Amino acid sequence: MKKKSNPKGDSAKESQSPNKRQANGWWGEGPVFVFLYDKRKKEAITNGVAEEILQFIKESEHSLHESEALRVIRIDNEYSHPVLFVDTGKETGLDQLDHLRMAGYRLAKWAENNAIKTLMIPPLKEDSLAKRYAILHGLCHASYAFDKYKSKKHKRTDVEYLFADNMEIDGVSLQTLFSGIDFAKDLINEPGNALTPAIMANIAQSVAHKHGLAIKIRRTKELEKDGYSGILAVGRGSKNEPAMVTLSYRPKQKNVYHLAFVGKGITFDTGGICLKPQDKMSEMKCDMAGAAIVLAAIKVIAELKFPIEVDAILCLAENRPGENAMLPGDIFKAKNGKTVVVENTDAEGRLVLIDGLAEAAELGATHVIDIATLTGAIRRALGTSIGGLFSNSEGLTETLIESGAENGEKWWRMPMDEEYSDSIKDKVADIRNIADDGPGAIVAALFLKEFVKKDLQWAHLDIAGVDFVSKSYKYTEYGATAFGLKTLVETAKKYSMDEIRS
Ligand code: BES
Ligand code: MN
Ligand code: ZN
Repeated sequence: MKKKSNPKGDSAKESQSPNKRQANGWWGEGPVFVFLYDKRKKEAITNGVAEEILQFIKESEHSLHESEALRVIRIDNEYSHPVLFVDTGKETGLDQLDHLRMAGYRLAKWAENNAIKTLMIPPLKEDSLAKRYAILHGLCHASYAFDKYKSKKHKRTDVEYLFADNMEIDGVSLQTLFSGIDFAKDLINEPGNALTPAIMANIAQSVAHKHGLAIKIRRTKELEKDGYSGILAVGRGSKNEPAMVTLSYRPKQKNVYHLAFVGKGITFDTGGICLKPQDKMSEMKCDMAGAAIVLAAIKVIAELKFPIEVDAILCLAENRPGENAMLPGDIFKAKNGKTVVVENTDAEGRLVLIDGLAEAAELGATHVIDIATLTGAIRRALGTSIGGLFSNSEGLTETLIESGAENGEKWWRMPMDEEYSDSIKDKVADIRNIADDGPGAIVAALFLKEFVKKDLQWAHLDIAGVDFVSKSYKYTEYGATAFGLKTLVETAKKYSMDEIRS
């Protein structure tokens, strides 16, 4: 066994004396061994000493408590260390890697709650890089807490994880990815009063500054001048000025691809004049998740120095009823010349995205991916585990789905049949922002398609079901999941290494 530091922490505590902190359980002072196994299949996941333990369990009277997925048993093994049993198959229906993520998550939660100082993770039986990362991802996810508004802060225990020799990992990229995930979650969890478009633009500014990204912030005047009328229309009802923020990452080494990420950034969605019902309206503070994710994605990509050009475009506005708010029936002219009638002020996401899609084309992107908490309909269709994917490109679709699958983010490709387009044709203007009825998520995607430049490879990710959870779900407690971020980073990595589908 070789010492490796806490996946997200620094290595300073490696030198900590073992007696410095007092563990308060009966397992005592020393390290706790971890034994990952699949209880149902009676299969060991970890190797080495664990094998012997499994044999021991089989032969002895020790049986694991049925209702517990984690259990510590002091066994007289050759090291006389307590052994922590982690059932990797506790949840149903997950794929193998997600089972490992969940096991890592439960393991870390238990260790934290019990003030365990050191956990030893033995080698994996059928080892692979993907499996190691899955466990590490679970451990990392467990350490997030949004407690800045709590007078009593979440008690953080720094657990030291010791990994077996063969658990070599790229700690830098893991740390970078997870600080990106925590950053996005923090933004998404912020309430509307603490995160207005201007504040979000300032945060983007400091990200740009820190990571050497070019940044352009357009506020009302610049948006008017450049014809970005969708963001203006939505932002009109609020005193908090809207903005479009474009961040550009231009590495010295690049390839033929140029990705643009467009994020819906409604810092709060009341619905506008078509006001939403009050039930759970507070959760609409998460309506800027897309913008948070594209900002975090470009931050991670710049830190990891991927050799590919990337832009992140944040479409920021607050959707409120107000003296000057857009009215149902209002018509505005989009950047590409098409006129849009606002049939419903609550279908505002697609209006701000129009401008982001236009900006992406202006910047010369080859591939454009927008990500948005766009429709309640996608939540009803796919639930809280699967994101909706719409695209005009087979290659981009496959790359995104594959990137997500490697990271526990499932996407389902939805149809975009043209025959539904008729439902958003208007008698007075060129296009309306809702249909009278029909498949809401598909209609929203078809609306966006009208504003995508013809030769661009484009994908639209509808994350309204998956970005924010009301009750604890997988490795996220109440709140933001940052679903989509890992997919975007992985996709950029694949394009930068030309490992894509076409
Ligand atoms: N931000 C909402 C979509 C949403 C719903 C996000 C639930 C997260 C959870 C979006 O702006 C919206 O209000 N969409 C409407 C569209 C409708 C008016 C056509 C919807 O889905 O009800
Ligand atoms: Mn809305
Ligand atoms: Zn919205």
